[in-house]
Amino acid sequence: GAPLRVALLGCGVVGTEVVRLLTTQAAELASRVGAPLELVGVAVRDVSAPRDAVVDRALLTTDAEALVDRADVVVEVMGGIEPARGLLLRALRGGASVVTANKALLAQDGPTLYAAADAAGVDLYFEAAVAGAIPIVRPVRESLVGDRVRRVLGIVNGTTNYVLDRMATDGLDLAAAVAEAQALGYAEADPTADVEGHDAAAKAAILASLAFHTRVRLDDVDRTGITGLTAQDVAWAARTGHVLKLLAVAEQVDGPDGGALDVHVRPALVPAGHPLAGVRGAFNAVFVEAEAAGELMFYGRGAGGAPTSSAVLGDVVSVARHRVLGGRGPVESSYAELPVQDPGLARSRF
Ligand code: NDP
Ligand code: HSE
Repeated sequence: GAPLRVALLGCGVVGTEVVRLLTTQAAELASRVGAPLELVGVAVRDVSAPRDAVVDRALLTTDAEALVDRADVVVEVMGGIEPARGLLLRALRGGASVVTANKALLAQDGPTLYAAADAAGVDLYFEAAVAGAIPIVRPVRESLVGDRVRRVLGIVNGTTNYVLDRMATDGLDLAAAVAEAQALGYAEADPTADVEGHDAAAKAAILASLAFHTRVRLDDVDRTGITGLTAQDVAWAARTGHVLKLLAVAEQVDGPDGGALDVHVRPALVPAGHPLAGVRGAFNAVFVEAEAAGELMFYGRGAGGAPTSSAVLGDVVSVARHRVLGGRGPVESSYAELPVQDPGLARSRF
């Protein structure tokens, strides 16, 4: 088929690895898609900044809007709310398929993006937005859609898991461990999003929305981060046979008027023998409990450029195949829009 024009928005930790896969695996990707994927431009803030040699500097631009306008597939790995939000809406409204790793944007304003994708009849895929390389969005969004999910629970932030691990293993203080996580490419541009639990809360909101077919907003997630924890707390947990983990939980509970959801992120004492206790470094693990399926466990690298680029490229191939062969991925805007009674509290109604 004719080449598909791919625009990349962002060329940092993740974007660089996306370029690497698009470049080094071009022939395989073309055969899987049924058409070549042509990288037509890479939008960045600073075209003169040093880049990995894999990035063709001739593709760099600061004019992201013009780039979006000439793409079939827009891959957003720049992060933040604006200009990412405006650019993705522009892409969708213009008929491009979108792949994004931007959990902050999806948790804050996903419904607007879903609606734009539906109106244009194009794909919006976001596997990399939750738990890095781990396939968890597709299983919850597609594979389990015929079942009834009861609970989603896990470690969905690599930075905080890495930090708690370093505090437990080597007695590092929080600031030193965060600096390491930043150097390794695990942390958000502002690592406060990681350590205060905002990033995990965004992922919990996305997973809860998909799993329970409702809208769970960032503000619906009851959130506590790890900044209150000291190396002494971590050591005390170990002495009592536990490991401190930042857990994200979305669970159906009984509510005053029937069903309700409890969605929260907070540090938890996990017994040392529990599988979650063995999740080290920047790895993530997610358990899903569904009525018919029973318990499922997903485990892998939750952060980092290369692992995340795997999830991004999987999405790129999926949306590109749809453009070549026809068809579309799942539709989200038909989900019920339900009032949130107690914003900021642990329980959101559904
Ligand atoms: P980086 O900060 O490393 O890279 C961001 C890139 O976007 C940079 O190339 C930057 O340009 C560009 N950029 C930022 N703002 C603008 C703007 N206004 N206009 C044009 N370009 C812009 O981030 P990451 O690669 O770590 O993360 C990117 C996204 O992926 C985020 O949404 C993040 O949450 C998500 N993510 C990250 C993971 C990780 O492990 N790092 C894992 C999963 C998801 P310049 O290079 O010129 O500064
Ligand atoms: N900062 C995020 C984390 C990146 O540490 O998990 C992956 O989403």
